[in-house]
Formats: sequence, structure tokens, C-alpha cells
Amino acid sequence: MLTQSKHEENALNRAANQSRTPTLRKRLRWLTLLSFAASVVVIAGHVHPAVGNPAQVTNLLQPLSQPAQEIKELSLLVLAICAAIFLIVTGLLVYAIVRFRHRAGDEASEPPQIYGSNQIEMAWTVLPILIVFVLILVTSRTIADIQNRKAAPGAVHATIVGHQWWWEIRYPELGIVTANELHVPASDVSRRQPTFLKLQSADVAHSFWVPQLAGKTDVIPGRENSMWFEPTQPGTYLGNCAEYCGMQHARMLIRVVVQPPAEFERWVAEQKRVAAEELSAQAGRQVFFANTCVNCHTIRGTSAQGAFGPDLTHLMSRETLASGAAPNTREGLRAWVRDPQKLKVGCLMPNMQMTDTEVDQIVSYLQTLK
Ligand code: CUA
Repeated sequence: MLTQSKHEENALNRAANQSRTPTLRKRLRWLTLLSFAASVVVIAGHVHPAVGNPAQVTNLLQPLSQPAQEIKELSLLVLAICAAIFLIVTGLLVYAIVRFRHRAGDEASEPPQIYGSNQIEMAWTVLPILIVFVLILVTSRTIADIQNRKAAPGAVHATIVGHQWWWEIRYPELGIVTANELHVPASDVSRRQPTFLKLQSADVAHSFWVPQLAGKTDVIPGRENSMWFEPTQPGTYLGNCAEYCGMQHARMLIRVVVQPPAEFERWVAEQKRVAAEELSAQAGRQVFFANTCVNCHTIRGTSAQGAFGPDLTHLMSRETLASGAAPNTREGLRAWVRDPQKLKVGCLMPNMQMTDTEVDQIVSYLQTLK
């Protein structure tokens, strides 16, 4: 009796399974298609959410400088080798599945069983070794090319210091200090002017990455790394910190402004000047110097000599505030000074609890720092 009901139950289960399986399969197929489509959208739409320059993307596949160009060529070569291997392996697999699939009447005879083949085993040992060897050769040649590049006379040198969460930019030879927006000259055949960077960290590990110019280089506490690039096309190149460094890691954006040489020299001359003192903003100046702003910020030519925050001597020459978190406009400045924690929670700049009038006055003063 018990066995009988077990049989019935099994039969019922089988029937249920048969009716469910095609639906399940259909759903799985849709799920696979959907996740594939989602991945394509995510990868294709990896547009940098930068302030004020929404059309620009940080596209690895559109390098506009050495060594990014060299890195792209190497990546494409490696990709081509991998694609060829993938096509051959999947091609053989599909061929075997189709050609030797189960056919009606196959139950009677088992196909011939083959064990071991010296030729095939030799082939699949030697071929991968050769492929890996080729990959090692081409990769180490590119790495050596990039690392052995020496700074020729005329090169621009800058030191980048990563902070939570902004970039301090120093040009030791030019006596300039700025933040978040690195200016460099464009190089051309008649005048090669690559830029060499030294990378340091003031706190935790960061990583400096401007994909169209060069590969990413880590910025590690207690260690100095270096990198270089040589863009030939003027423009603004976007990048970001590429190593998780805390809450505002995503708002640690970099801009590299590549300028024609004459324009770059004008920028250098302007940056070398001390801060312009305008009488029109005296009230705001007083607010600035009466508060603790001076403990963290430098304004060259004044008594403000703080070193924790960005140098403000030529604040208005920058396009963005707070490492790309806000546009450098009167509105942006007001929002930032009123409550930095609202724009960039966790950052070191505190809410100074200023009145609306004080905020307006201090912003008027900041806007004279051109
Ligand atoms: Cu700095 Cu992530």
C-alpha cells in the first residue's frame, strides 16, 4: 500500500517537473540575456560623472598620450591572442557537441573509448608555454620601455600628494602649489615636453589614474612612486583616484589641463604671483583671517600659511572645488563654505557655523583670489 502511494507520488512529481522545466528554462534564458545586456550597458556607459565637463569620458580605448597609447596596443595584442584561443577552444567544443551528439538508436553501442594520446598531450603542454612566453616578452618590453624613460631637459616636473580626499600639486622647480587640477604643456615634434610626476601620500593609499594619458600608478604612504606622460593634444583630461581610500574615494577626481606651451607658460607666470589683494573684499578678508581658515589654507602673500588643505592663492583659476565635487562658481563656493560636510561628508573641512552674511562676504573675498 505504502509502495503504491510512493509510486503515485513519484509519477505526480515527474509530471509536475515536466510541466515546470520548459518555463524554468525560458526564465533562465531571459535572465542570462538580461544580465548580458545589463553588463553591456554598464561597461559601455562608464562615463565619468565629472563636474562641468559631462561630455568628456575617461576612455581607456582612446589614448591621447604616451604611454597610454603603448599600453592600449599591448592590451589589444593580448586581447587578440586570448580571443583566438577562445574561438579555437569554443569552436572545437561546439563541433564536438554537435558532431557527436546523442542520436536515436545510439543506446545499443557505446562509442569507442580512447585513453591518452602522446601527441595531443605534448601539443597542449608546449603550445600554452609558447603563448605565455610570447605574452611575457611583449609585456616586459612595454614595461621596460615605460619605466626606463628618463626626463630630458625641458621636461616638466611635478609632485602629487594624495590626501583624503584631494590632490596637492607642487611644481618644485617653478615654485607653484595648486590642487586637483594639474596643468602641463602639450608636447610636439619640435618641442618635446613630457611631464614627470612624483607621487606621494599624506595619509592612506591612493592611486593616480588619468586613463587617456597613462596607466594608473599607486600612491603609497612612506614611498615615492613615479610616472610620466607626454600628451600632444591640448584639452582637459579626467581621471580619478583608483584605489579605495575611504568614504569620499569617489569624489577624489583629477583634471589634467594640457595647454599649448605658450599658454602653459602664461599659466605658470600667473600662478607664481602672490595673491591679489582687492580692497573691495575687505569684509570677507577679515572673516577669513578671524576664523580658523588660516590654520589649514595658504594664501601666498598673506599670513595664511596652513598646509592641511588646498592652497587658495589662485583658487579662482580652478574649475572645480573639493577635488571635482562641485563647480567653482559663486553658488558652489557658498554651498561649500556654508557646510562642506553636506557636499562631501567626512572631509576634513568642518562646518564653520557662519552666518549668511559672513558666507557671502568670505565668498566675495575668495573670488578675488584669481
Ligand atoms: Cu584616494 Cu581613493
